[in-house]
Amino acid sequence: MSGIAIERASALKEKPASGSLGFGKYFSDHMFLLDYSTDKGWYDPRIVPFQNLSLSPAAMVFHYAQEVFEGLKAYRKADGSVQLFRPEANIKRMNDSCERLCIPKIDPELFLDALKTLVRTEISWVPGEPDTSLYLRPFVIATEPHVGVHASSSYIFAIIASPVGAYYAEGLNPVKIFVEAKDVRAVKGGTGQAKTGGNYAATLRAGLEAEQRGFSQVLWLDGINRKYIEEVGSMNVFFKFGDEIATPRLQGSILPGITRDSCLRILRDWGLNVTEREIDVAELANCTEAWGSGTAAVISPIGKIVYGETRYNINGGKIGELTQKLYDYLTGIQWGRIEDPYGWTCSVNS
Ligand code: COI
Repeated sequence: MSGIAIERASALKEKPASGSLGFGKYFSDHMFLLDYSTDKGWYDPRIVPFQNLSLSPAAMVFHYAQEVFEGLKAYRKADGSVQLFRPEANIKRMNDSCERLCIPKIDPELFLDALKTLVRTEISWVPGEPDTSLYLRPFVIATEPHVGVHASSSYIFAIIASPVGAYYAEGLNPVKIFVEAKDVRAVKGGTGQAKTGGNYAATLRAGLEAEQRGFSQVLWLDGINRKYIEEVGSMNVFFKFGDEIATPRLQGSILPGITRDSCLRILRDWGLNVTEREIDVAELANCTEAWGSGTAAVISPIGKIVYGETRYNINGGKIGELTQKLYDYLTGIQWGRIEDPYGWTCSVNS
């Protein structure tokens, strides 16, 4: 029996039309909340109607960005049941992020119970059309009203839910990526491997410039040599060079993506030559296929990369054979079309 209290909304929202979902625009009727104080630890787990949070303008999250978040999805299978994909991996990564940001960790069992209870409460919000899902966004914010720089003594952990379609307007059509040479996303020793809002704030300027020039996203280079590929920000990246499939090594400034890890496992099980290493941006001249991986982005083919004056057209701007095969297999597991040999999926009812 779950210890999570449920307060139901008195009026339910109208659901958005299935074709208009996009990404992260709509929110379901309820949310999960949990409070923290130094005296009580984490307490009062509850589901409440989706609502605004009331915070002091001095709450530390507004001033020093003490915040972490996660992203995972609930998928509707053809038989109508609903499953999560590797939630334990998101729970572990969020607690790793908490450790980096001096936020008290959350009990993994309670976290999983919260995810499943919220999805069961919002089951009618899990869309059933192809390539749609209910995106779950757990996050923790520092709430202590204090403008001295130190770790907060109080926090809110919340989970909100948003029915989503494709992250990129392009869908499965290859995206255009701009290699950023001026701004840097993260450096080793910083917070690059944690999922914290500040990492994303640092990418907005270059992202806006790239968008204005017709690109979907920015590809980040390392902050020291300014030549080794890191990640895209909303996704990790993979490149095919001849027989080798390479992805940047996790060296401290790159997000340890759960979809990245799933791709590595699948590709290795397929017997392919997969490496995690430093990738010099100049190597893109030899790249025959490229894709990004992420919970939101799923597997997103990359058709064009521009670095200064150099344009790399990858696989003639079309989705590659391996990218398509990986997309079909991974999404097959996530939506339950293919048997899951890894034990990655879990029912929200178990
Ligand atoms: C995700 O893939 O879930 C992310 O958090 C990436 C992005 C939407 C910030």
